[in-house]
Amino acid sequence: MSMRVLVTAASRHESTAEIARAIAAGLNARGLHAETPPLEEAGVLAGFDAVVLGSAVYLGHWLKQAREFAQVHSAALLQRPVWLFSSGPVGPPEHRVPADGPTDIETIAALTGARDHRVFAGVLDRSRLGVAERATVRVARVSEGDFRDWEAIEAYAGEIAAALLEPGAGAPRAPHGRPATALR
Ligand SMILES: Cc1cc2nc3c(=O)[nH]c(=O)nc-3n(C[C@H](O)[C@H](O)[C@H](O)COP(=O)(O)O)c2cc1C
Repeated sequence: MSMRVLVTAASRHESTAEIARAIAAGLNARGLHAETPPLEEAGVLAGFDAVVLGSAVYLGHWLKQAREFAQVHSAALLQRPVWLFSSGPVGPPEHRVPADGPTDIETIAALTGARDHRVFAGVLDRSRLGVAERATVRVARVSEGDFRDWEAIEAYAGEIAAALLEPGAGAPRAPHGRPATALR
């Protein structure tokens, strides 16, 4: 039986959900069994051997839904290998706005015992934004476009699959796992 992996993310305008689906496709292509229910439907972790949890970043934070998921399921997440990703910075690589990752990632890493965290560039499509969001991005002078790096996303899926396919990979916080403080 192949390992079952839950890959889920909080997304307001769907671009982060698409990253979750790409990671799941990368895991499935390597012989794992990844499923991508929306975060609000991903309540039961009992049947999953590992979890990949992500969120879009808004105003420096993971979306509330993803922060709550990490908190509510902390005990179950600490018993499984977990990987995190954030989708946020937009703009060309030489002018990423904002350059920093989400400020709450250390807390989320501690709640989940995550082995790694990756920040991927996101999407800015003004036509999808609400009025308040448009005002915020106008002030931040953010350039519009789809800045997602599918190669980097696919590479992360490859790293996760390689770790899960190692013998004994199902153990929580395996000795080769990184401590939360080393997360990127
Ligand atoms: C109002 C607003 C605020 C944002 N704030 C941040 C931020 O603080 N940090 C960041 O990295 N990206 C920020 N972004 C970029 C989003 O994270 C990016 O557009 C992401 O791809 C959205 O994902 P979604 O389509 O899944 O909602 C912001 C975008 C908007 C519209």
